[in-house]
Amino acid sequence: MSGASDTVGDGVRALRAGRLVAFPTETVYGLGADATNRSALRRLFELKGRPPSHPVIVHLAAGDLDEVLTPWVRFVPPAARALGEACWPGPLTLVLPRAPAVPDEVTGGRDSVGVRVPDQRLAQQLLSAFGGGVAAPSANRFGRVSPTTAAHVQADLNGDVDVILDGGPTRVGLESTIVDCSSDEPVVLRLGGVPSETLAAVLGVAPPLCTDGRRSAPGTMASHYAPAVPVVLVEAAEVRPRAAALLAAGRRVGLLAAAATPDVPAALEVLPAPRAPDALARRLYSLLRDADRRGLDVLLVVPPSGGGLAAAVRDRLQRAAGAGASP
Ligand code: TXA
Ligand code: MG
Repeated sequence: MSGASDTVGDGVRALRAGRLVAFPTETVYGLGADATNRSALRRLFELKGRPPSHPVIVHLAAGDLDEVLTPWVRFVPPAARALGEACWPGPLTLVLPRAPAVPDEVTGGRDSVGVRVPDQRLAQQLLSAFGGGVAAPSANRFGRVSPTTAAHVQADLNGDVDVILDGGPTRVGLESTIVDCSSDEPVVLRLGGVPSETLAAVLGVAPPLCTDGRRSAPGTMASHYAPAVPVVLVEAAEVRPRAAALLAAGRRVGLLAAAATPDVPAALEVLPAPRAPDALARRLYSLLRDADRRGLDVLLVVPPSGGGLAAAVRDRLQRAAGAGASP
């Protein structure tokens, strides 16, 4: 059984016993297993309903970069060192050449491993008291949007997870940025909590994006970030006519808008989306879950413009729209 009263001590005992622990990070909640315990890792994949070829991120306690990474990686390329020193603890995952001892269950059999030092008090307490790496995907079932509250975790994994640590709503609200530093040129595999502008400032040059899953962050395909309701991206000026036509056809229509939308029909169900990109990122997955709960037929979305976290929000919304059936 798990509940609101679970403590870091419960989490550490569960990890040591090969059981699973849901815990908050600054991005989304993770579902953690001892990253050296193969049977715990297999249970993790089963519970998530996730194919074994999908690698998971190893979460590590904060500390000296070389000491933190030595058990997990063969070497630390200069770009990774610069990024780790600038952005950790924080919402950045580095893909690095794996050390031979890292279980295949973590890496999906690849020659690389994804590692991250999260910036969240309970996560850091858990990691430092446990004293090892915690392999953790987002704590949702395969194919659902990531959980940003303990209640989301309960709703998705109810009963199947041994311990849930409740740290309240997560601060960033979107998953970590993933940068592959395992070959000569760093490449961004997933946009996320560290904006591209920050990566460019640290590296002196903007790393290229390869976020379509081709180069390899399996599991970044569209359906992974989509709610059940079909999402349609529109410009602010299109909302009124699109909504009117759908409502006239008897559909229940929601709106999630990062910009002002003039004169919308009264029957449109407007979700309370913040306009500021960071606040929208923080609320996004809760709003998408609300859209599902309301049983909408269509969710019209006006994405945010601009840089910073707005780019990662747009990325998730485009995936959500790409995955849905057309209304
Ligand atoms: O913010 C986050 O990153 C959250 C929190 C819990 O840390 N975790 C998360 O995990 O989003 P997950 O498993 O839902 O997504 C991790 C992504 C997957 O797309 C996976 O393919 C990619 O990271 N990944 C992990 N290790 C990799 C590797 N060695 N090479 C390429 N991609 C990797
Ligand atoms: Mg995930």
